[in-house]
Amino acid sequence: MNASQQATYPDANQLNQAVLDLSQLPPIVTSWEVDKLREHIASAQRGDVFILQGGDCAESFSDCNSDSIVAKLKILLQMSTVMQYGLKKPVVRVGRMAGQYAKPRSADIELKNGQELPSYRGDIINRSAFTSDDRVPDPSLILRGYERAALTMNFVRSLIDGGFVDLHHPEYWDLDWLGHSEMGDRYKKIIQSITESIDFIESTSGRPLFLSQKAEIYAAHEGLHLHYEQAQTRYIERTKNYYNLTTHFPWIGMRTAELDGAHVEYFRGVANPMGIKIGPGMTKDWLQDLLKSLNPENIPGRITLIHRFGADKIEDTLPQLIKTVQESASPVLWVCDPMHGNTESTSSGVKTRRFDNITSELESAFKIHKNMGSYLGGVHLELTGENVTECTGGARGLNDEDLAIAYKSPVDPRLNYEQAMEIALGISGLSA
Ligand code: PEP
Ligand code: CO
Repeated sequence: MNASQQATYPDANQLNQAVLDLSQLPPIVTSWEVDKLREHIASAQRGDVFILQGGDCAESFSDCNSDSIVAKLKILLQMSTVMQYGLKKPVVRVGRMAGQYAKPRSADIELKNGQELPSYRGDIINRSAFTSDDRVPDPSLILRGYERAALTMNFVRSLIDGGFVDLHHPEYWDLDWLGHSEMGDRYKKIIQSITESIDFIESTSGRPLFLSQKAEIYAAHEGLHLHYEQAQTRYIERTKNYYNLTTHFPWIGMRTAELDGAHVEYFRGVANPMGIKIGPGMTKDWLQDLLKSLNPENIPGRITLIHRFGADKIEDTLPQLIKTVQESASPVLWVCDPMHGNTESTSSGVKTRRFDNITSELESAFKIHKNMGSYLGGVHLELTGENVTECTGGARGLNDEDLAIAYKSPVDPRLNYEQAMEIALGISGLSA
């Protein structure tokens, strides 16, 4: 069976040893949590919940530090709070984090200054520096990646349990660098209104509101590196199912969704809720077959279709796929990824995304689903709580030249804080 997008490790024994070592470590998530997320997604499929999925295109090992993790958590908390306020329904937060370390590549080889080296495939596989040593896939990185994923999740859990997520203290989520900005100020007004409502209810009822009770943040990553995913796949006696316990929500990327490929075969066998990225090129038959293969029993909450067509293609491609799903008995959650179909290069060759294309795809997605009696129940974004300049446009009107100010992503361009908040306000119907 063909396993696409896998690294070629030079030493099979070392790889086997790393996978064996990994399989003996404790899991990062539990089957109970995985089941709970599947139930949330089932609620979202019925229109009762909205899903906010976001984070880096690729996490890097060097960003596994306190500030970076806290910033990611803060932006997800701020956005979800605004969205809950505007949409008036629970928003379930899913981070592209704690394991988003492997990347699919369009070419196996990178050519630079006449030298050919294996492409960089993410920190869990090889290193980004362009030297022959750095580009050799190194099995020990599988373990280093797993440890960092566990450290990330551990820190997120501790922050949540320690009260960081308590809505009585939204000031904990303020981003130090932010100061006054249009989005920051609008966010603060919403928070003030929420805080006043909480005070009102608490003072009239005489009882505290336990708003922080187990605020949940789920982990998600592309289930790309099959050795990594399989090593932590366990049979759970309680439910008589296999679970991928590296993450709550793995997704199948655009490049690995072949019906007869190893990724689909692997995903068929696990009980996790799973995403399938669908983009231009996805056909009715292919989608139908994927649903039959991955969810033959039509289990609610199991399948999320994350569509990423691009602002100029969504109108032509999405409706027929919605129709296909409506004609099947298969329950799915539709989520829009307005990032990956809108990647382009500037005239000087910098990878970027234009804010207007992102919002335009998102608006079209909401409109198309609504017109067809379908529900768009979530959004999947590449974003950061940091003050980067990777996507152009937004409230500050960043232009191509501004990208040089703070472009940090080694892979795809992310929304910065203000751009992400602008999207959250737009989805919530709170745009200026
Ligand atoms: C991604 O989500 O980073 C990605 C590579 O997406 P896609 O598979 O949709 O291109
Ligand atoms: Co990406």
